[in-house]
Amino acid sequence: MEVVPLASVQELGALAADTVERLVRGRPDAVLGLATGSSPLPVYRDLIRRHRAGTGPSYDAVRVFLLDEYVGLPPGHPQSYRATIRRELTDALGIPEERIASPDPDPERLPGAGHRYEDLIVAAGGVDLQVLGIGTDGHLAFNEPGSSLASRTRLKTLTEETRRDNARFFGSVEEVPRHVLTQGLGTILDAGHLLLIVSGEAKAGAVAAAIEGPLSASCPASVLQLHPHVSVLLDEPAAAGLSRVGHWREVYADKPAWQHL
Ligand code: GLP
Repeated sequence: MEVVPLASVQELGALAADTVERLVRGRPDAVLGLATGSSPLPVYRDLIRRHRAGTGPSYDAVRVFLLDEYVGLPPGHPQSYRATIRRELTDALGIPEERIASPDPDPERLPGAGHRYEDLIVAAGGVDLQVLGIGTDGHLAFNEPGSSLASRTRLKTLTEETRRDNARFFGSVEEVPRHVLTQGLGTILDAGHLLLIVSGEAKAGAVAAAIEGPLSASCPASVLQLHPHVSVLLDEPAAAGLSRVGHWREVYADKPAWQHL
């Protein structure tokens, strides 16, 4: 695991954007795993800014897989994760709708939705780079505490804490759906490179539990400890709960120039 404490959210966004761009330059048909929520927004803003300035790579052949999706929202609802990623990133990069895959929340097709999504990921050759955020309760995607560390894409019920956290995107907590489809922790572990982006003091406890705590379904993000290629980018408040933060700073400062995330 590589943990990178950074001075600001801007630095975090720039480093993560560099990582996405390096992948896409080297593999124009890369499969990007994208997260929604507030955490990756600085990254997405940087990618869009560079794309508009003409300094970014071409996204003409890139394919996208979303981590999760709400169940129970009317199709096209602005807070559906499919609508959100289009608004926040893919439309601006020119990635068309047909190259974006997301779990299918249609009530008629719900029973097989998890298996079908897993099959789509396999058919695409797997996710090359998965962008991740973390919930205040340590969730990854919508794998709430207690999720099997080997889980695959399936229907999940949100905790009250997550519904309260996400109420800011809706009118009220009552409007936040109770159910979601989410990639499992086992699904996420299959991606080639995991890039966790975290900012703000509200996440410091979850970050410390995930990185320095025991491997446990009680902190779903601790499953990252099992993956051979994880980069965790933190701003200072998010890194505040780590006991080895000084060491991580030294490691990053001494990183050879040829070695990227
Ligand atoms: C959400 C999403 C996750 C996200 C996490 C943190 O509900 N399903 O993919 O990483 O919770 O959200 P935020 O980045 O808005 O704090």
